[in-house]
Amino acid sequence: MVLLEWSKSLDLGVAAMDAEHKELVAAMNKIHELDGRGADKTTVDTAIQRLVALTKKHFSDEEKHMAAIGFPDLKRHAMIHQDMLKKVGTHYEAFQAGSGKVDKAFFDFLVYWLGAHIKGIDRRYADHKAPAKV
Ligand SMILES: [Fe+2]
Ligand SMILES: [Fe+2]
Repeated sequence: MVLLEWSKSLDLGVAAMDAEHKELVAAMNKIHELDGRGADKTTVDTAIQRLVALTKKHFSDEEKHMAAIGFPDLKRHAMIHQDMLKKVGTHYEAFQAGSGKVDKAFFDFLVYWLGAHIKGIDRRYADHKAPAKV
């Protein structure tokens, strides 16, 4: 079973960011798939590390993009990114300390990330670039 399905509602219309979001979704689904079929801890660990690395790169690229388009709420968005990175780190530490199974709380967090962050928070800079007609 796939953890997250890509849907049109996740498309921001910013090609570079959409491509990175798709990569993140694929990395999240990979962790879920490996965990689901009982892959060994090292394999799952590698997949989580990959997600963490992609996340860091994405947040940095996204902050550069927001700066480039003069998005006024960049500072707050960057703080939300920092908080999310901290939470990913905490979940990763819990995984490392555990048996090798990924906690449901970790997956819930990833689903939240996609739903609330991309659709809600990220959408704001996309709307800033192409304001909705009123
Ligand atoms: Fe994003
Ligand atoms: Fe973001």
